[in-house]
Amino acid sequence: MIAPSFSRELLERYGSPLYVYDLDEAERQAKALFELLPKGAQVLYSVKANPLPEVCAALKNAGCRVEIASLLELEVVREAGFAPDQIMCSGPGKTASLVRDMLVAGVTHFSCDSWYDLERLAGVASATKKPANALLRLQVLGAPSGSVGVGAMQSHFGADPAELLNSGAARVAALQGAELAGIHIYSGGQIQTADKLASTFEHAIHLAEEIAEAGVPLRLVDLGGGFPWTFGTSDDPVDISALREKLQRVNAQRRLTAEAKLWFESGRYLVASSGTLLSTVLDVKVWNGKPHIILDTGMIHLGGMAGLGRIYRAVASIEPLAGRDGALLQSVDVVGPTDYALDYVTRDASVPALKPGDAVSIPNVGAYGLTASLVAFTGSQPPAEVCCRGSSVVAVHRLRTGHERIRA
Ligand SMILES: Cc1ncc(COP(=O)(O)O)c(C=O)c1O
Repeated sequence: MIAPSFSRELLERYGSPLYVYDLDEAERQAKALFELLPKGAQVLYSVKANPLPEVCAALKNAGCRVEIASLLELEVVREAGFAPDQIMCSGPGKTASLVRDMLVAGVTHFSCDSWYDLERLAGVASATKKPANALLRLQVLGAPSGSVGVGAMQSHFGADPAELLNSGAARVAALQGAELAGIHIYSGGQIQTADKLASTFEHAIHLAEEIAEAGVPLRLVDLGGGFPWTFGTSDDPVDISALREKLQRVNAQRRLTAEAKLWFESGRYLVASSGTLLSTVLDVKVWNGKPHIILDTGMIHLGGMAGLGRIYRAVASIEPLAGRDGALLQSVDVVGPTDYALDYVTRDASVPALKPGDAVSIPNVGAYGLTASLVAFTGSQPPAEVCCRGSSVVAVHRLRTGHERIRA
């Protein structure tokens, strides 16, 4: 958490509201995640969690690869210094033109969401004479109960594993232009215990073993992730330290895939704790007998995906920069600056009395913050985003929004 005095200084320099990211913290989290995983495992940073080049560069320093879904994300990770062979292009509904541009830029790894996606990759790779390693994403059927996390829903992603298990070997051998390097299984986000994470990975490893037994050799097994972290609150994150030992036991079960490289993916575990949203109280009024604090931030900058069930409904913690030592606490609702009834930051928060002009901070918003929010709604200028190391500012960005007129 950044010091209140530094927060005030940044607010003065860059205005309110303001996202601040601590790059050292992102590197610490990456180190902590590597320590939980089997030796030699790779971690792919999911750039959609926070697509700032300096955040990506911090994770590159920490030894991560990246997982991207668009040309804009490609530009960002190239700026961050990732080599093309450290990049995996992922996601359903790719277009041939996206695949071509990725291949031409040198991207070598692709997660394919279906056989069609895989065969399209092979076709485009043949035409462009570029090497392509495919990971076929597989649907998670019959995963251990409760292994999908908060906000996860039965997803439609991936191909049916039966297609690989039954006639896969012949189909894979007939592929021209791309090599099926492995499989990709992502069971959901925010998996809340070390036990559930381990059993999710175990289920995936069993499936990989069955596929190898069916005659499909696998060099790469991407087990996805789901590593949990608090979103927007000061609650303690779930302790998943027991995962290390559990995962070692699970990893020891590999036989036919023992030589395959294990990949994991993470967005929120790596970067959530690095981010803080600073905001200023615009107004305080009593409505229906209860104080309402109106902030200069809300759903337009935070938690926009909550409505999609992707992350927790916004129940952020707000911490006055002035602290709360000895102050009398009151129960308040904290709302955003749009005239939309769902735009609340938190209800029934216990905070010291606040007045217009006071600054507050919201922790653990480094993942799925600004770019996962309704940032274009109402047309107000997006907050600046500041990347820091200690009390040095490394870079400042502002997301562009607004319509560009194109030729009719
Ligand atoms: C395929 C895939 N990998 C990784 C992630 C990152 O998830 P998280 O940020 O919860 O680690 C997502 C998130 O939606 C995903 O869909």
